[in-house]
Amino acid sequence: MSPATTNKKFKNPRAAHNFQGRTCSISGVGSYVPEKILTNADLEKLVETSDEWITSRTGIQQRRIAADDQFTSDLATQAAIKAMSRAGVVAEQIDLIIVATITPDMPFPSTACLVQQKLGAFRAAAFDIEAACSGFIYALEIAQQFIVSRTYDTVLVVGAEKLSSIVDWKDRNTCVLFGDGAGAAILQNRPDSHGLLTAVMGADGTKADLLFMPGGGSRCPASAASVTSRLHYLRMEGKETFKNAVQAMQTAATEALRRCELDISRIKLIIPHQANRRIIDAVGERLGAKPEQLFVNLHNYGNTSAASVAIALDEAVESGKVQRGDLLLLVVFGAGLTWGAAVIEW
Ligand SMILES: CC(C)(COP(=O)(O)OP(=O)(O)OC[C@H]1O[C@@H](n2cnc3c(N)ncnc32)[C@H](O)[C@@H]1OP(=O)(O)O)[C@@H](O)C(=O)NCCC(=O)NCCS
Repeated sequence: MSPATTNKKFKNPRAAHNFQGRTCSISGVGSYVPEKILTNADLEKLVETSDEWITSRTGIQQRRIAADDQFTSDLATQAAIKAMSRAGVVAEQIDLIIVATITPDMPFPSTACLVQQKLGAFRAAAFDIEAACSGFIYALEIAQQFIVSRTYDTVLVVGAEKLSSIVDWKDRNTCVLFGDGAGAAILQNRPDSHGLLTAVMGADGTKADLLFMPGGGSRCPASAASVTSRLHYLRMEGKETFKNAVQAMQTAATEALRRCELDISRIKLIIPHQANRRIIDAVGERLGAKPEQLFVNLHNYGNTSAASVAIALDEAVESGKVQRGDLLLLVVFGAGLTWGAAVIEW
């Protein structure tokens, strides 16, 4: 007998299934990008750059920019509505909302609470997580714990960003790279599927200064001086970030495959963080993947941070590239530094 069943002093709700876990699957995905398109030609008018430079160094051709009155919670809500519809889930069913973002509507309350309000998902608990571009995989792994432990039945995970609000439009080193958007997934137990097989998460805070936003937090609150010094924009050491991204994504993906005893040839589609085409190609080559195994959509959206891999997953599914039973490898990298990889049976 387990300790909980013999205990007469109180009830342990977690004993209901004798502490037995269950699998966690993605039962619906959705994404949303704002209407406004900013092309490389448009950027040529803002900073000293060229379509040729941006395309050849990054693969990015255009990105989406949210309207002035459109915030991260709006993008997240639109993506969530699509994911809910595809999963056949209504707002009242959602037990928990997790939003991964580095561009919350406000420092607090959480963007997840604003999404809860916009969806009318009033039964749901709600919080944000911040793992930069790795946020969606971090959020998937967190969400999975609640499903596996039978704490919750339906969790909404969203990666959403309005990066245009923290990009320095005078810095050609960074402004050409980023865009706005959101991707969402509904997580539930599906008894006929293994779903999320494993998720690797990692971090290296010693390299926090490679990619960061100095202003706006407790270290450097907003002031006239912080605004004048342009501290409320993201800053990046591009070359070092690039090297670390390739290494970390390869290591995370290899570890995820090892845990599942899978060779890369068994993976139907690799969905990597969409930061730079050269990073994706280098990671694919190091993993021994065939080019057709790599899903790429960054030419359309640039780097949308926590939304990136979620939008890509949605497009891969919607385009029919992914069928039930296929094995997927998601792999991400971001500020922190952070990284992650997940293997999913679709
Ligand atoms: C940013 C990045 C595209 C730069 O590419 P790169 O090949 O490393 O280019 P470099 O940094 O060596 O810059 C080469 C030159 O191009 C210039 N340059 C930078 N941005 C430019 C732009 N938008 N247009 C034209 N020239 C540009 C640089 O000033 C530099 O000039 P210099 O040689 O006279 O100093 C690349 O480093 C990168 O993608 N890094 C990772 C970014 C990333 O993924 N971040 C998010 C992680 S989640």
